[in-house]
Amino acid sequence: MERLDKRLANTGKWSRKEARELIRAGRVQVEGAVCRVPEQKVEETANLTVDGEAIGGSGPVYLMLNKPAGVVSSTDEPGARTVLDLLGEEWRNRGLFPAGRLDKDTEGLLLLTNDGPLAHRLLAPKRHVDKVYYVEVDGTLDPEDAEAVRAGIVLGDGTVCRPGELELLGEGRARITIHEGKYHQVKRMLAARGKPVRYLRRERFGPLALDQNLPKGGWRALTEGEIRALFRQ
Ligand code: URA
Repeated sequence: MERLDKRLANTGKWSRKEARELIRAGRVQVEGAVCRVPEQKVEETANLTVDGEAIGGSGPVYLMLNKPAGVVSSTDEPGARTVLDLLGEEWRNRGLFPAGRLDKDTEGLLLLTNDGPLAHRLLAPKRHVDKVYYVEVDGTLDPEDAEAVRAGIVLGDGTVCRPGELELLGEGRARITIHEGKYHQVKRMLAARGKPVRYLRRERFGPLALDQNLPKGGWRALTEGEIRALFRQ
């Protein structure tokens, strides 16, 4: 446990005096609640925000990123712009990695964390964490496609997908829910139907929904409630 003003000052962004002023002004939240007491002792792992922005610490970190197209999810692809490049300096060296990957041209919800055991659990194939995507294809999507997704699509290489759901939104647009995470899964499922994907965005990952207020490339710390929901998953 450490004093709140010291935790803020340790980030190097504010002096101890500035930190105390921020706290007294009600601009600092601890676990989602405003704290106006600079001497308040906080856990190493407590989520702290200043003006709604998460600040670094030493505990586990859970961030929601609205991934834009053109950046790669892997953290170490030489020469490529990675999702970690979208975060500020204070998140460097925190051991963050994406829990699951999105293709370079896929947008939307990506969970970044340094909590290995949680990520491992969420990605375990037997856990069947739901993933929901908004998708646009060349051509039209029809009730037969929805039925095929419900029955379990067989990919080009013979792999059988678990049944999913395809909600038709008109023309070549749909919302697709899958309960596993095979490589390029949505694109391969719809390619198997002769409907090449031209746009893909993840809207949900398990209990997490993409925050509509996050611009492309924007991110925020998960709320306590969101973190709790992930642990219940
Ligand atoms: N399915 C895909 O084909 N690509 C993604 O990025 C995610 C799911």
